[in-house]
Amino acid sequence: MQTDLRRRDLIGDLDFSKEEVETVLDVAFDLKRKRALGELHPYLRDKVLAMLFFFSSTRTRGSFEAGMAQLGGHAAFIESKTTQIAHGDTPVEIGEIFGRYFDGIAIRHVDWKIGNQYINDVAKYSRSPVLNMQCEIYHPFQCLADLMTIIEKKGRDLRRKKMVVSWAYAASYQKPISVPQSLILQMPRFGMDVVLAHPPEFKLMPQIMDAAQEQARKFHTGFEVISDADGMEKAFKDADIIYAKSWGAMLTTEDPNEGSKIISQYKHWITDAKKMKAAKEDAIYMHPLPADRDVEVTSEVMDGPNSVVFDEAENRLHAQKAVMALTMA
Ligand code: CP
Repeated sequence: MQTDLRRRDLIGDLDFSKEEVETVLDVAFDLKRKRALGELHPYLRDKVLAMLFFFSSTRTRGSFEAGMAQLGGHAAFIESKTTQIAHGDTPVEIGEIFGRYFDGIAIRHVDWKIGNQYINDVAKYSRSPVLNMQCEIYHPFQCLADLMTIIEKKGRDLRRKKMVVSWAYAASYQKPISVPQSLILQMPRFGMDVVLAHPPEFKLMPQIMDAAQEQARKFHTGFEVISDADGMEKAFKDADIIYAKSWGAMLTTEDPNEGSKIISQYKHWITDAKKMKAAKEDAIYMHPLPADRDVEVTSEVMDGPNSVVFDEAENRLHAQKAVMALTMA
């Protein structure tokens, strides 16, 4: 068991080895149990986390902030637009200065071709660990909470479980591709057979696809891609886990108007009761939220007996507390 994660950054999903992720999960389950019993667990007393946001959030902000308080520390909410970042503070200043003020720096920056580089640049200059609260490539804390939820619902032995990671139609905005990319990287390590389904224009980054295939080979799991206009229905057949969410057509076009036009061709990619019937009877429905209700997924499915979306959102808290306690202690 690899337990020494002190001062480590978590930026990409594979930054922690499988053994280290298992340590995170063990700690997360323990912290969840302690919270349920009202046992105090101030592992980070007097420690402070900077939470630097370049993009909006409900769950990420709430769970990091609550998590730090429950660990006996404090989280400082900092919106980039209220800082001097627009007036000259580069990642060097943020890394050097925040790294000295704070015991950890968590950053959300999802701008295409900018966010991940920014987070890595801050990490280069920070003496404190840097945690990725979502960039345009990865959403590692969401993925840890997803894995924790799958283990709770399906057990520790996930070998031969079919997990569908599917694109879904949504009209609100072109969502980042980071969630599906994190899932296809992490889940093969835990034995799941991943089926990735999307219309042809919604490909993921080639280097991430290569890395996911490599993980699947290494851990002897299945990795199938269904890339056709009616792929959602095909993918759902006999699935154990359905993870269907929208993402943008960034690999096809960086023009948002053109992207919206492409998205509008696939309104039939909605998770509804009829499609869920093709999956196993005890299949779970997952979504990181926010979802476009009755556009991306019907309320019948989202609020139905197969949905685990609120347990999944809760597990953000426990998974993040585990990583913070291990890296910032
Ligand atoms: N799933 C997730 O990251 O939610 P928020 O965007 O609300 O933080």
